[in-house]
Amino acid sequence: MVVEASAPGKIILFGEHAVVYGRPAIAAPLSQVRARAIIRPGVVPGVLLQAPDLGMEKNLSTADLDDAFAVAIQQVQKAAGLKRLPAMHITVTSAIPIASGLGSGAAITAAIVRALAEFLDLADLASDASVSAITYEVEKIHHGTPSGIDNTVVTYEKPVYFVRQQPENRIETFKIARPLRLLIADTGMSSSTKEVVGDVRAAWQADRARFETIFDACGLLAEAARSAIERGDLAEIGRLMVRNQAELVAMTVSSAALDRLVTAATDAGALGAKLSGGGRGGNMIALVTEETGRIVRGALLEAGARQVIHTVIGNGEKAGSGH
Ligand code: PMV
Repeated sequence: MVVEASAPGKIILFGEHAVVYGRPAIAAPLSQVRARAIIRPGVVPGVLLQAPDLGMEKNLSTADLDDAFAVAIQQVQKAAGLKRLPAMHITVTSAIPIASGLGSGAAITAAIVRALAEFLDLADLASDASVSAITYEVEKIHHGTPSGIDNTVVTYEKPVYFVRQQPENRIETFKIARPLRLLIADTGMSSSTKEVVGDVRAAWQADRARFETIFDACGLLAEAARSAIERGDLAEIGRLMVRNQAELVAMTVSSAALDRLVTAATDAGALGAKLSGGGRGGNMIALVTEETGRIVRGALLEAGARQVIHTVIGNGEKAGSGH
């Protein structure tokens, strides 16, 4: 039996970084770029892992202990209580740019975990809740201290309002009164989320009062954004994005390339723009309308964007991708 599972990329609309410190954040799936895992029964004993896009081929038994692919498989094996895994051949492909704030690590893990649970015929482990929980464990390798928002949004594949808290994270879906048209532009510069999250932690430890104030502001912006999204107040959502970007600049997680794209987008008529994800590189997002989309896209490319993806959140409309 051949099993295939996939998971989407994601964008963070509001609240990245502050979400690690318990403030609310809003994220949405980016369904047109996906990671996929295909599992076939193996012809030789053992688990063979292949990721042709990354030029990677390895055997589970010889993989590094902190290899995220291997950890994903071992976590499923542990949760299933299996001593040995049957012989299998796992192929992973992904159209999600890596190290670019689009959640590629979480999506690849979620795809592997779901495919493996289905291959082993373990319905409980293949459930959204279980795939998300296992993906979170693996995310710790990518992020150090992940908030849990990435694994949640790529597993449930719905826009979510998320608060990291004990004993259980608060995960809520919400009404999107008017669809959000977004352009997602890539600086072309890769950035390690783990490193940026670590730098923010060091800066917070050095000046807690200042960073707590910034995180509080981000949390309030995310709350206000949820209510603006529920009301369909696009102009307000745009203004809140601009304010969130200012807080991210204060947090030192923006970059010259991100700032350039944000300014290009707002100058060309976007309702708002901000970086999305870990920052210091990767992608930014711009809120546009049917009328302004084309002009803003042109301005982003002119300002150096490597790629601009178009997506619509909230009306089930199939988004086109403008590579
Ligand atoms: O860079 P990405 O796509 O992995 O997003 C990271 C989001 C952060 O808030 C910076 C970290 C986290 O775990 O929530």
